[in-house]
Amino acid sequence: MLRYLRLYRRDFLLGLLCLVVTNAVTLLIPWLLKEAIDALGRGSALRNVAFHACAIVVAALVLAAIRTWSRLLILGASRRIVYDIRDDLYAHLLSLPASFYARRRTGEIMSRAVNDLMLIRSLFGPGILSVLNVALLYSAGLPLMAFLDPWLTLAAILPYPLILIGVFRVSRTIHERSNRTQEQLAEISNDAQETLSGINMVKAFVQEEGESRAFGGLSREYRRRSLLLARSRGLIVTLMGGLDKVSTIMVLCLGALHIIAGTLTKGGLVAFLAYLALLSGPTVMMGWVLGVFQRGLGAIRRVEEIRAQTSDLPGDRALGAGPDVQGAIAFRGLRFSYPNGGRAERPVLQDVDLDVPAGATVGIVGRVGSGKSTLVQLVAAVYPVADGTLWIDGRDLNSIPTSHLRAQVAMVPQETFLFSRSIADNIALGAPAAPRSRIEDVARLAQITRDLPDLPQGLDTLVGERGVTLSGGQRQRVALARALLLEPRILILDDALSSIDADTEEAILGGLRDTMRRRTTLVISHRVATVLNADCIVVLEDGRVVESGSAAQLLARDGPFARMHRQQQIERELESL
Ligand SMILES: Nc1ncnc2c1ncn2[C@@H]1O[C@H](COP(=O)(O)OP(=O)(O)OP(=O)(O)O)[C@@H](O)[C@H]1O
Ligand SMILES: [Mg+2]
Repeated sequence: MLRYLRLYRRDFLLGLLCLVVTNAVTLLIPWLLKEAIDALGRGSALRNVAFHACAIVVAALVLAAIRTWSRLLILGASRRIVYDIRDDLYAHLLSLPASFYARRRTGEIMSRAVNDLMLIRSLFGPGILSVLNVALLYSAGLPLMAFLDPWLTLAAILPYPLILIGVFRVSRTIHERSNRTQEQLAEISNDAQETLSGINMVKAFVQEEGESRAFGGLSREYRRRSLLLARSRGLIVTLMGGLDKVSTIMVLCLGALHIIAGTLTKGGLVAFLAYLALLSGPTVMMGWVLGVFQRGLGAIRRVEEIRAQTSDLPGDRALGAGPDVQGAIAFRGLRFSYPNGGRAERPVLQDVDLDVPAGATVGIVGRVGSGKSTLVQLVAAVYPVADGTLWIDGRDLNSIPTSHLRAQVAMVPQETFLFSRSIADNIALGAPAAPRSRIEDVARLAQITRDLPDLPQGLDTLVGERGVTLSGGQRQRVALARALLLEPRILILDDALSSIDADTEEAILGGLRDTMRRRTTLVISHRVATVLNADCIVVLEDGRVVESGSAAQLLARDGPFARMHRQQQIERELESL
């Protein structure tokens, strides 16, 4: 964080200089007041008083101008700092791996990015401004007061240690309560974000009222915590305001005695009280400033926590560009479990030994939850694997720079995500500069062209948020085209054609045959028919490879694959009846 402060130190230093001048002028005004009153007392000419009055007006004008400038400088710098931090934080968030997002909820991350940055801005802007102001005011104001009347000064600042102890006590409570309030706000953001993203489900299951009630509960808790926070904030203001009045009364009594004794002029007492008022305002504010600092520092800690997160993919630490990927994949005793946040880890994949020659087509089948998606995600370096268990072209996956590897691996995931852009832009996600003709080619390969007559602007049709206006099968084909556009060495289809009817699937696979011959292709499917033509079929059960071989071999063995095949054949015959 200091790095950012250093970046804008010129603004802060200039702001500080302005503050020095502002405070000098501020402190000059009571002095002019004293001179004017004392002049009146001596019965000197009205002209003299008028001169002092004019001087006060001029000083006030100068003060307003310079104070505005100093605020512009420091508050402006704080805004630019937060702007920089926000950009850096976003870039950093994008660099974090899937495992980071699996551990955190989106609402929590959003809360850091929005609320915490606001708290940091308060710290660097009004926070720093107030602290500098108070420091300057005290270091010049106190000597002036002491010059006017040392005993009176002592009486005035006597209650201050008490004030500070009180402030310190209460501000610790404020800090705790502010944290709890912030956490609850994150909870609320998360709930709203989740419910609104899943609005169709909420409506389909008529849960509007239930969700609204649940949100109401969270909201009530937020209100409770906010009120507690407001109560301790109120306490601090009352505490400090009250003690401040005590010091004013003491000064008034003692000051009157000094005037009677002749050691203090009337003008002197007025100036003294004006100084006291000047100092007490910012002192009361110190309670608030302390809160700003505590909350700001808490926010900095939370943001730093995210910034300290690094990728746990060993490939992200591999340097240099890797060699071109040919596409041979080898699993050697691969074992994998998802990071489980401290709970006992359950292996999702075990003892996977598999050789996929470059250019081969491998079909992967198995029951739901048998680990098919996990297996292919490891090839795309979504999660980290142990050294020596996964090899690409004879090189340990962990020694290949992740971005380099991913540029040559394209995956059509089981669940597609489309951005709120045109279909063409969605297809060009991985290659924004691809020429239009290429996009049209892959759209044809993925059989999107079949649907084009139904789409108002063809490939330029905007896809609604998350592509809700497209059918599941249409979305899957957009995702397929997106992967094909990259011309990857390794193409992964994770049940990518599941929502597409058998005829269209056949047309797609027929069109892809040539493409697939030139690349290593991993095809996961629930339909046995989809993988019958693969060079090799792998059957997974509970994370283990229980069978592998060509379709003919597996059917002859009469194992799990043959059983699946028979079952699906019967289902199809029943359907066609
Ligand atoms: N992100 C995750 N975090 C923790 N566990 C996960 C995660 N993804 C999957 N799992 C678990 O890993 C196991 C294998 O899941 P996987 O998605 O690989 O199965 P699959 O064979 O692709 O199933 P399906 O046929 O339904 O797509 C399941 O038990 C699942 O609960
Ligand atoms: Mg899956």
